[in-house]
Amino acid sequence: MLEKVCVALGGNAILKYTDRGTAEEQFENVRRTAKYLVRMIKEGYKIIITHGNGPQIGDILIRNERCADILPPMTLDVLGAESQGMIGYMIQQAMWNELRREGLNIPVITFVTQVLVDKNDPAFGNPEKFVGPFYTHWEAEKLMDERGWILRDDAGRGFRRVVPSPKPKSIVEIDTIKRLYGEGVVVIAAGGGGIPVFEKEDGSLQGVEAVIDKDLTGERLATSIGAETFLILTNIEGVAINFRKPNQKFLKEMSIVQAREYLEQGQFERGSMKPKIEAAMKFVTNGGKKVIISLLELGEKALKGEAGTLIHV
Ligand SMILES: Nc1ncnc2c1ncn2[C@@H]1O[C@H](COP(=O)(O)OP(=O)(O)OP(=O)(O)O)[C@@H](O)[C@H]1O
Ligand SMILES: [Mg+2]
Repeated sequence: MLEKVCVALGGNAILKYTDRGTAEEQFENVRRTAKYLVRMIKEGYKIIITHGNGPQIGDILIRNERCADILPPMTLDVLGAESQGMIGYMIQQAMWNELRREGLNIPVITFVTQVLVDKNDPAFGNPEKFVGPFYTHWEAEKLMDERGWILRDDAGRGFRRVVPSPKPKSIVEIDTIKRLYGEGVVVIAAGGGGIPVFEKEDGSLQGVEAVIDKDLTGERLATSIGAETFLILTNIEGVAINFRKPNQKFLKEMSIVQAREYLEQGQFERGSMKPKIEAAMKFVTNGGKKVIISLLELGEKALKGEAGTLIHV
């Protein structure tokens, strides 16, 4: 049996902060990423792919807002779907091309994926995830008034919209995802943490203006498909303790007991490493074998235990 691996791609696999953000740059990054992923497939790993959308949804929000005087702005859930489609398309095409270059006739498909959240999730009462562009204080007040948004000062850099970040409960399309994955299709799903939806009393689904953490949704995906390994590919070689201090030390491995200790010591930054560790602990607790957090470029080595940080029971 092939080893099942859920691969979570960080934003930099698609768009680096230093990039200008052109389509060509994003295609170029995705092409490079596709090469690593296809090598994994050739080595016998059965992969499913998920990805972040931070920089892209930021750009989409600017396009949306700048056009607000001539076209009706869309809600964040709709824009999330847009980002899944655009990033999914790039990965899907790059994977298709790379697979065929390697003589592998494997189909590739992207799912527009909805993720169920709890309407009573405490996050809804405490929006704290910054999204989109910066505004002046004056603009911020106008937006709060006219659009009912909540805007806050983001580390003194200006005002930004904040939205809730509820916990993912389950992936709505999971049965179909599993079916195609089971048939050997390369599936790209739950991009950007998925489109947050909640279930109404009559059982119907409704989108909500929120952002779900992509690593936590990645755990839901990895667990649901019964992956042995959850591979989180990011822009740093692994997990460090005493991060950015003179005594910083990258860890080769840690148990979830150690992870909890470090978490309690505040070793992992909120919004970046912390959700990865939380997702890792959940995955292993839910029966997954191992989580590896590694630099994108070292993903294959990391799968063999030669790079990254391994998190286990
Ligand atoms: N203890 C730690 N060890 C290693 N990195 C840490 C630690 N604490 C915080 N970080 C930060 O976590 C970052 C990786 O998480 P980040 O959320 O930026 O990337 P990502 O999830 O791969 O991509 P994105 O969120 O853009 O989709 C690193 O670049 C590093 O700055
Ligand atoms: Mg992140």
